[in-house]
Amino acid sequence: MSFWNRRTSIDALNNIDERHRLKRTLRWPHLVALGVGAIVGTGIYTLIGVGAGRAGPAVILAFLVAGVVCACAALCYAELATMMPAAGSAYTYTYAVGGELIAWVVGWSLILEYSVVCSAVAVGWSGYAVGFLETIGIHLPHWLTAGPHAGGVVNLPAVVILFAVAGMLMLGTRESATVNAFLVVFKVAALLLFILIAAKAFNGANFTPFMPHGFAAHAEGTEVRGVMAAAAIIFFAFYGFDAVSTAAEETVDPKRDLARGIIGSMIVCTLLYMLVAAAALGAMNYEQFSASPEPLAYILRTLGSPLAATLIAAAAVIALPTVILAFMYGQSRIFFVMARDGLLPERLGSINARRGTPVAMILVTAIVTSLIAGIFPLAEIAELANAGTLCAFIAVAACVLTLRVREPGRPRVFTTPWPWLVGPLAILGCIYLFASLPPATRDRFFIWNGIGLVVYLLYGRVASRLAKRVYQAG
Ligand code: ALA
Repeated sequence: MSFWNRRTSIDALNNIDERHRLKRTLRWPHLVALGVGAIVGTGIYTLIGVGAGRAGPAVILAFLVAGVVCACAALCYAELATMMPAAGSAYTYTYAVGGELIAWVVGWSLILEYSVVCSAVAVGWSGYAVGFLETIGIHLPHWLTAGPHAGGVVNLPAVVILFAVAGMLMLGTRESATVNAFLVVFKVAALLLFILIAAKAFNGANFTPFMPHGFAAHAEGTEVRGVMAAAAIIFFAFYGFDAVSTAAEETVDPKRDLARGIIGSMIVCTLLYMLVAAAALGAMNYEQFSASPEPLAYILRTLGSPLAATLIAAAAVIALPTVILAFMYGQSRIFFVMARDGLLPERLGSINARRGTPVAMILVTAIVTSLIAGIFPLAEIAELANAGTLCAFIAVAACVLTLRVREPGRPRVFTTPWPWLVGPLAILGCIYLFASLPPATRDRFFIWNGIGLVVYLLYGRVASRLAKRVYQAG
């Protein structure tokens, strides 16, 4: 069989050798917590300011655009995740629907997304943590808190938090998901506190002029502006629900719980974001907080609530690691499945007998994400994460539509409503968001995938299990 039309069947996918299976320990409340844990993070805590700077009060439209695109993608994810409850998420769905080569591109993009999100959030966390340590009188030297791009040597706090989260994952999925649920409560409570305090200062006049930079993304000097430029970065705030689908193999009742986990976490976060954005924009002119590295704390402090501002900052320090947890979890599972399929070295996918988790893979993930976090600038890695995610979302929506045509009679536990509206909306929305990213980000994404294709041609194409006919071809 030629490598460009190698494909595994959905039935073969659902029939995994027990020796290669992950332990089933998760139920839907764990999954909603995992989803909210992955979604609410740097996006709403920090990028809301960047978005407001790009779009003005119309950043609320950017939240709407990114939210609608993500909701459409979430519905598509729910259909596929319940149909193919295997750990590889978008990679696995494309493997069964589009074949090995396209799946490789999606898997390679997911590796980019998941690593880069972990790294970006770790750098963001480091900023809050260093500031927090300052307030209690502990001063870390600059060379230990910044990468070479900012005149330092290594961003040590970012490295430390990545290894701490990796350690939790190695201890076992259930334990980590339970700790995650506690931390999720902290960050959601902090956002609710923000809404309550900021809403008291609401002034409708802060919403005019509403769209000072127009709708389409465009350059103004060295800056990108417009609602779509804001949407392309705000998109970061919404994703994470896809990490839930990577827990499919470890879910006790995947058919029921996955749809609940994905859609439930998406609904909770969208409502929360709309309220936070409306409260922030109503509380003061966007130009006041858009440049702040801690916009929510800045707003509260300016409104005369320093204690609440400190609480918000503390919540960010305590809770941002939940985002790293969810993405590192997803990352190790994607690696695990790609290794199981023979596209990456098999030893990387081996499961530790005592823990039931891919310990070696988690360690590799921690090392790679630490290197990125220690060396590269935050803004660039965050935008790159969006590019990888958009690619995966496009693939998932395309898979739903392809299967509707190819296998209309296959039982679907969760069916995407109005698939011929929702699917194309997800695909076109993601393409529009991708086109609204800075050109340099798009170039980096294509270079990454060019490297990926070389890796595939040199390794995966030959070592693939389909090449060795271990799996039954579809
Ligand atoms: N949605 C996640 C965040 O905002 C990636 O941090």
